This record gives sequence, structure tokens and C-alpha cells, in this order.
Amino acid sequence: MSAAWLKDTVFYEIYPQSFYDTNGDGIGDIKGIIEKLDYIKDLGCNALWINPCFDSPFKDAGYDVRDYKKVADRYGTNEDLYRLFEEAHKKGIRVLLDLVPGHTSEEHEWFRQSQKAEKNEYSDRYIWTTFCFEGAEGFPYVGGESERSATYMLNFFKCQPALNYGFRQVTKHWQLPIHHPAALATREAMKDVMRFWLSHGCDGFRVDMAASLVKNDDEKKSGTSAVWLDIRRMLDLEFPDAAMVAEWSNPPLALRAGYDMDFYLNERGNGYSTLFRDYENHQGEDHSYFKKDAGGNINRFLDQYLQWYQDTKDIGYISLLSCNHDTLRPRYNMDESELKLAYAFLYTLPGVPFLYYGDEIGMRYQNIPTKEGGYFRTGSRTPMQWDRSANLGFSTGCAEDLYLPVDDAEDAPTVASQEADPDSLYHTVKEILALRHSQEDLQADAPFRVICSEPGKPFVYQRGSLLLAVNPDSASKTVKAAFTQNRILYQIGSASCKEGSLTLAGQSFVVLK
Ligand code: GLC
Ligand code: CA
Repeated sequence: MSAAWLKDTVFYEIYPQSFYDTNGDGIGDIKGIIEKLDYIKDLGCNALWINPCFDSPFKDAGYDVRDYKKVADRYGTNEDLYRLFEEAHKKGIRVLLDLVPGHTSEEHEWFRQSQKAEKNEYSDRYIWTTFCFEGAEGFPYVGGESERSATYMLNFFKCQPALNYGFRQVTKHWQLPIHHPAALATREAMKDVMRFWLSHGCDGFRVDMAASLVKNDDEKKSGTSAVWLDIRRMLDLEFPDAAMVAEWSNPPLALRAGYDMDFYLNERGNGYSTLFRDYENHQGEDHSYFKKDAGGNINRFLDQYLQWYQDTKDIGYISLLSCNHDTLRPRYNMDESELKLAYAFLYTLPGVPFLYYGDEIGMRYQNIPTKEGGYFRTGSRTPMQWDRSANLGFSTGCAEDLYLPVDDAEDAPTVASQEADPDSLYHTVKEILALRHSQEDLQADAPFRVICSEPGKPFVYQRGSLLLAVNPDSASKTVKAAFTQNRILYQIGSASCKEGSLTLAGQSFVVLK
């Protein structure tokens, strides 16, 4: 059973480095998030996911955690974060932290201990072979860096040694089974981290690389799933209101492993990517469904989505997102008129949706050099654009000290400029989210049914008793169907309906009651 509060929740993802800097050092901070809670609430988001804000050498922007229980100095103190929980709760906003359970930084104290030649409590906290010249066959590994004569397995970058949750199939003498005391100790250590933040007021976690824990797992990830089900039991007993969203992108597996939500993430060529980011395989042509006149076919998304939806609608939620810190911003290829329709669709589907900071004002992807292991992702991580003051209102520091440069385009969108323009993307997002909160039929678990997905026609779908339709093309489109809804609750562009026929003008969206 998922936490009841998720029913009417829309998440706002905050990359803390880049949201709002309150002390002029050029880096966003926890106090900055506190100061902007009213902005987030007013936009219509009532929950946050904050990217890792813990002590770290920042070789992967904080996904290399050095101390799970300590806020990184550059963001403030633990007390600041506790206060954020408190202030957010006063405003009806929940807060998820980012849990990175698959690996730590190579500078984590557990790893320092694990590297020692002499056996200790942490020797098996990570995955080591038994000889300095023996590689972790089939897995990325590092040798030559520790006193201990062995090599260790990596989970992602070189700076991220894999924590040891055991192997489902043990094929080498250095691999431990899942129920080995050392593998269980890792699991307990992670529960301890979760308890720490939950008991200080956080509402749950977004879980990084959730499928990566147990190695040599089977196709159904039964080893890793068993770990999560065990952790879920702990949550159900001790923190029944806590929510978890997986970075797994396989809802049938993740939701059966005890998660409340799982992201449908962008992968080249997958269903989700065909909605907004289908520009990589077509010699410069953009075939995204929401790209005007791309002749897109919504079934390329629905084929996978509906299968997952049918399979999981009674056990949890699929989370759709505008973007995240790993993906090119949707403004990279789409203009505001296209984004309005894309978001209208995204935020009226079932499940628990996410909005990445700045996507509500159409922040652009920046072509800039890599920072903290970001590579191409860095361009989606630039400072939030608040207004036309220095550094676009992000920081009072010097431009050279900023975490990343702000968009220097003359027409860079800002919150202030978008607020002043009643036709802006920002206002559309705000209207859609308000509509979602006001209509139970648009919320996470209200029924969803496809009415028309024929190429060349508007896409028509039902949520509870409401009928919705979208037409991303510039030409007007008509669809005939037996429907009874005829009162327009909300529209972008224009729509008209009479006697079983619905016409949407070019680039339009409508909600009918
Ligand atoms: C996840 C994060 C990504 C990070 C990686 C390693 O994919 O979203 O930003 O680099 O895990 O932790
Ligand atoms: Ca700061």
C-alpha cells in the first residue's frame, strides 16, 4: 500500500547547487530552498526531491557520498535541513532526500577502513577480490590503490566503489552470498541511514540506481528485490508514511520490490523518449510526439506505458517527469507552445509526476564544459533564473564564483518575466497543476483509458469522468467518438465539440466534463 499522501502529489526536483544562493558564495544552499518554498507551493508542487546534499568530494555532483549523515558544508548544516523539513511541512510540502545505496565515495570512512590490510568490521562492506592482481572479472574494478592486496569493484565512476549486498549467484571465491553476515550488515547500515533522516523529519527517498544492489542477479532482480522488500518492512513498521521512488525504470519490478513509485526514464528509443526527445536517430530530424508537425505517433509511448500501467495500477505509481539532472532539458528541442502541450499531457496522466526546477519557465539547455562529473548533463544543471538582477537573481556573488554560469541569452526566461506574461509557459504549468489538485479524477490513481490513439487524430483519453484530448500538430484535427462530456473545464488553444465529434485547433489541449 502506497503512502496515501501520494494521491494528490506533484514533485519538484531541486538540484541544490543551482537553486538559490543566500550567502553569496555562488552555490545554492538549504536556506535558499527554504526561502523559495512559497514559490514552489504557489506553482502547484507539494513535494520536493532534493539531489544529494551530503558531505562529498563532489566527483559525481554528490552521488559520491562521504558521510551519509552530514549535510555538505557548502549547502549549510544538518540543522538547516531539519528546519527545511519543518518549514516545508508547515506549508503542506513533503521532502524526499536522495539515497545512494549502491556505492559511496572512495573517501567514505567505511571505504578507508575497508582498504586496510588488517581485517576489520568494514573489510567486506565493499566487494573485493582476494589478490592485488586478480580483477573482478566481468565487472569494472580498481587495483593498486590500497594497502590491502586485492582489487575492488566499482558501481559507476572510478570514485564510486560498490557496496557489498552479496551475489545472487556466487561464481567466484571472493563473492559473498546475499545472506552472508557482511552483506546483511551493509543492508542494516543503509537502514540506519534511512532511519536517521526519517526520524529528523524527511518524508522518504528517491533511490539512486535502485536495481544495482545485488550482483549476478537474475532477470527479475529477485536478489535486489528481496533487499528492498526487507527495507520496506522496516519502513512499514517504523515509518508507515514514508515514500520511496526508484531510479529503476521498470515499474513492474520496482513496485513489486516495495517501491511506491518508479520513474519512466529517458533512454534512447524507449517509449518515454518518443514524447519529447526523439531527435537523435534521424539525421537531424525531430520525431518527438510533441514537436509540432513531426507527425508523431503516440502509440510508440503507449505500447510500453499501457502494459506497465495495466500491470501495476493496483500496486503503485509510474512517475513521469519533465526532465531530471541526467537528461537534456525539454526546452533543448521544443519551444514554449510545444512544451505547454507536453506538460498538459504529462501532468494529467495517472501516477505521481515530477517537474525539474526551471522547466516551468522553459530554461534552456546550456552548451558548457563538464562540472563535477556531469559531462553532457552539466548543461541541464545551471542556476535557476529568478529575475533580471545580477546572476539572474540566483546569487549576489561574483559571476566567476557561480557553481555554473547562468544563461547569458538576452531573452533568457526568468520567473519574473514569466509571471508578468499571462500567456507564459509558467502560467500554463500553474493552471494545469491547479486543475489537477482540484479534480480528483486527474490525480494519481483515478482511472485512465485511451479513447483514440490513431495517428493523424487528436490523442483522446479519459480520466475518471473527464475526457481529455491533445493535438500537437499545427492543423486542426477532428475525432468522432461516442462521448457525453461537453463542458470545457480547461483549454490551451481552442476546442469545440458537438454530437460525438470533437475538434481541436492546431496545437490545442482540452479537458471536458
Ligand atoms: C544516478 C544519478 C546520476 C549519478 C549516478 C551514479 O543515475 O541520477 O546523476 O551520476 O546515478 O550515482
Ligand atoms: Ca550559498
